[in-house]
Amino acid sequence: MRRPVVAGNWKMNPTSLREAIELARTVDAAAPDPDAVTTVICPPAIWLAEVERAVSRVEVGAQTMHFADAGAFTGETSPSMLSGLAGFVILGHSERRQYDGETDEGVGRKVVSAVAHGLRPIAAVGERADERSAGTTAAVVDRQVRAALGGLERLGGTGLVIAYEPVWAIGTGDAATAADAQEVCAQIRAILADLDPAAAPEIPIQYGGSVTADNAAELFAEVDIDGALVGGASLKPEAIAAILRAAAESAARE
Ligand code: PGA
Repeated sequence: MRRPVVAGNWKMNPTSLREAIELARTVDAAAPDPDAVTTVICPPAIWLAEVERAVSRVEVGAQTMHFADAGAFTGETSPSMLSGLAGFVILGHSERRQYDGETDEGVGRKVVSAVAHGLRPIAAVGERADERSAGTTAAVVDRQVRAALGGLERLGGTGLVIAYEPVWAIGTGDAATAADAQEVCAQIRAILADLDPAAAPEIPIQYGGSVTADNAAELFAEVDIDGALVGGASLKPEAIAAILRAAAESAARE
């Protein structure tokens, strides 16, 4: 069955290459058997090559990319620049949507482009607090997932990962309850089944948003939660090691 994927989204951290290499080596040493759990670290793009050279067990991912191969896109990184360097790329993270104008349609283009370049997309979706209180969580998630995947002819063989990250839970310490996260992840699984019934059971769905050493095991016990996208705790060696242990224990039970 599907293998859980635990990905550390370092965001714009740490502040030096030396610290980045040190953190990468620590996570690499703590990573479970790659046959049981896929561990990914997503450092700032400028350090991808050096971080990639510093690790052997964990995979490396980018935090975003442009959809085009090359061109007049100042400051951007293209999928062909990433391929061979990164195995994964986070697309549509809520911070990109909020601060960089990333749209549902744009995320869809990037997902197609990532797959075409052999990069495994981690497509991030999730409702804002106002959307949750208005009762529109299911509609928002449905729209975002279908837009992210709409350009793919099929899901099987793409290496796709979905990250369900309620925006209100990111960086707030206010994680979704395991039951609430499971409810949305089950909904996402149903959308995947609608798009590609054969592939849906194989696609990892992560939860993200204030995942810690304390709540990881409970989240991973849910049937449709297959790992996590971890921000703040991925910068703390002890916390990420505990989250990885929880993922390995949950995988061993299945
Ligand atoms: P957090 O971030 O774990 O710090 O809440 C998660 C994310 O942004 O992916």
